Amino acid sequence: MDVFTAMKGRRSCRDFLPEPVGRDKIEKILAAASWAPSPLNLQPWEFIVITNTNVKEKLFSEAKRCIKWILDKTGWDWLKTYNADFLKYAPVVIAVIGDPRKTGVDMFLEEGGAGYQHACAAAIQNINLATYALGLASLWFTFFEKDPVREILAISPDKTPIALICIGKPNGEILQIPRKDSMKKTTFIT
Ligand SMILES: Cc1cc2nc3c(=O)[nH]c(=O)nc-3n(C[C@H](O)[C@H](O)[C@H](O)COP(=O)(O)O)c2cc1C
Repeated sequence: MDVFTAMKGRRSCRDFLPEPVGRDKIEKILAAASWAPSPLNLQPWEFIVITNTNVKEKLFSEAKRCIKWILDKTGWDWLKTYNADFLKYAPVVIAVIGDPRKTGVDMFLEEGGAGYQHACAAAIQNINLATYALGLASLWFTFFEKDPVREILAISPDKTPIALICIGKPNGEILQIPRKDSMKKTTFIT
């Protein structure tokens, strides 16, 4: 699939069919992730592939707790109907874990220490695009606190769970979220 088609066609999916995803596809998706750029090519990511129902339930419970906490704090109305059931029903959840020690030269610069997160974000977008190119859909999910997820997935305290990526076949059409015109956000310096 052409990369422009994938970038435009990929949309966040929050409703998955229960069909399992083959190991060959998961390996292809993770190989795509590892081709992402990273500072000094430090590749600060690790992946945990979760298909276990009990573990997905635990991640769902943490998401629910976190969503309630944000709702109580902000009163944001849209959160009242936000349903994170996809964490239970997506056939695969990939946890992307970052290593803050592998952040590159930005650790010496102003607002340093974010390089590893940027690299993980690049890997996550490769996951999203590869997933779409394989006829599947995904969701980049971040409504959780780091420590409870560390505990659920047995991640050491010196590493950071960056995101949970839900993957599977979409259940029906995905809502198309529009974009602003990129030229309205661009300045050319010539
Ligand atoms: C860093 C990041 C965090 C996100 N976290 C969540 C999340 O926790 N829950 C969720 O439903 N979507 C999450 N999203 C998905 C966005 O809501 C989605 O990309 C955006 O609304 C645009 O929709 P589209 O991906 O379908 O184009 C996240 C996206 C990014 C890049």
